[in-house]
Amino acid sequence: MRTLRIGHVTSEIAPFAKVGGLADVSAALPSFLHGAGHDVRVFTPLYSAIETDAYDFAPVEGLSDLSVETGADRISYDVLQATLPGSSLVVHFIHCPALYDRLHVYTNDPDEHRRFILLSRAALDACQRLGWAPDVMHCHDWQTGLIPLYLKSIYAWDRLFQATRSVLTIHNIGYQGTFPASVLTDTGLEDSAKYLHQEDLREGAIGFLKTGVLYADRVTTVSPTYAEEIRTEKLGAGLHDLMRERGETLVGILNGVDTAVWNPRRDSNLAHRYSQKSLWRKEKNKEALLSDLHLPYDPDRPVVGMVTRLTGQKGIELLFEPLPEFLEAHVLRLVILASGESKYERFFAELQEAFPGEVCFYRGFHEGLAHRIEAGADMFLMPSIYEPCGLNQMYSLMYGTIPIVRKTGGLADTVRQWDPESESGNGVVFDHPTAEGVRWALRTALGLYQDREVWKKLMSNAMNADFSWEKAGKRYLELYGELVTRQEAKV
Ligand code: ADP
Ligand code: GLC
Repeated sequence: MRTLRIGHVTSEIAPFAKVGGLADVSAALPSFLHGAGHDVRVFTPLYSAIETDAYDFAPVEGLSDLSVETGADRISYDVLQATLPGSSLVVHFIHCPALYDRLHVYTNDPDEHRRFILLSRAALDACQRLGWAPDVMHCHDWQTGLIPLYLKSIYAWDRLFQATRSVLTIHNIGYQGTFPASVLTDTGLEDSAKYLHQEDLREGAIGFLKTGVLYADRVTTVSPTYAEEIRTEKLGAGLHDLMRERGETLVGILNGVDTAVWNPRRDSNLAHRYSQKSLWRKEKNKEALLSDLHLPYDPDRPVVGMVTRLTGQKGIELLFEPLPEFLEAHVLRLVILASGESKYERFFAELQEAFPGEVCFYRGFHEGLAHRIEAGADMFLMPSIYEPCGLNQMYSLMYGTIPIVRKTGGLADTVRQWDPESESGNGVVFDHPTAEGVRWALRTALGLYQDREVWKKLMSNAMNADFSWEKAGKRYLELYGELVTRQEAKV
């Protein structure tokens, strides 16, 4: 395949700005493509929380004193660049303090739509100013959902984009960026309003993700099972009909894992690095984790870990009854690193209070601790109601930490129930999103843990998994290749 020019536009990129898995994917995929020899540029906001002093930020020549008209206002910005740590990939940061100097990456502020309209338009404007004609503009989630339509409307006059094709990846259909129709003037699409979803418009709404689904040349999501699930009314969040209409132009590609960041053999966050051959060192990480968190170490009592955003999606409600029961029976210890909705934070805070020495709830975001939990826990719990891909269960598998997951989305695609007959399987998988489902799963996992030989085999099956970006990256390249070849065949 010839060298492609690939633009990625994203609202998060690790390690600069991370809320969830999108940040990990937005770093790893472009970095893989860049490593494979393609000309890749990433565009993302320069949030004020990014510690610019810690990286090599520099202005980009030709990209200063820029502005975009949104409604009655002109928003000024410039573009800085920095290299992605551990790679030579250059990331372009849209520097606009008026929009990105906020407490959090995402806000409920009245100008939230403008923050990502600017990102989308600045990315396209930057391409123009740099004279860089992308073969593919790869957009991520609702924040960049207008780009496919921009390319077909207000930027269509520019020959630079004549051959540009768009890909939209849906990381989570639960967040659609739906705004009142009054934002139309801010989008700059007044003259192209006929292309927006007309029924929504009549009802007074504009959906950024929906617009992307309507106009992207390809739509992808982050696991094959989720690609099927979003075609159903139950999990399509109102977009299932559109998803079905996309037919073969909607595909699911399972995310990979950035093994430069997540690898028990090289992870500098760990007290003891280990591999399949030195699992006793994993046990040392358990000891170290518990000691750090002031919990007693007991080799026979498994540690169940969780690292998660606390939202409805993650199925925390399913734990409300079972967890206190298991803790009451003193059969496990629980380590949770999480933050989010207050009812879930309260639940874990109360558990910690009710079971001192058994539960540690670390409320907040902590990259190093996330790695230490993956390494030090024996089991990792993800009872998600839905999970587009899920990265933590893949990290868990690679770290020999047995995932206990609900059978949905990417969890269903990566974790297979242990089968004692064939000794196959790498975790515990439950189907029913109920307290009883969780009880079954925990009982099953605890039972397996008691048999050291079985547990060793489970760990070995888990650690044999290959989630490298090679596989996923190649699938994306094939997809780009199809789009570009079609285009070239047409010319
Ligand atoms: P989602 O993107 O829905 O949050 P994923 O499993 O795809 O779920 O990715 C979550 C990512 O965010 C993982 O890399 C996980 O380690 C990280 N993460 C989530 N919560 C925290 C936290 N409180 N502290 C540190 N890392 C976290
Ligand atoms: C979303 C999903 C998660 C997925 C991540 C990266 O945040 O909730 O399941 O792993 O995006 O694609």
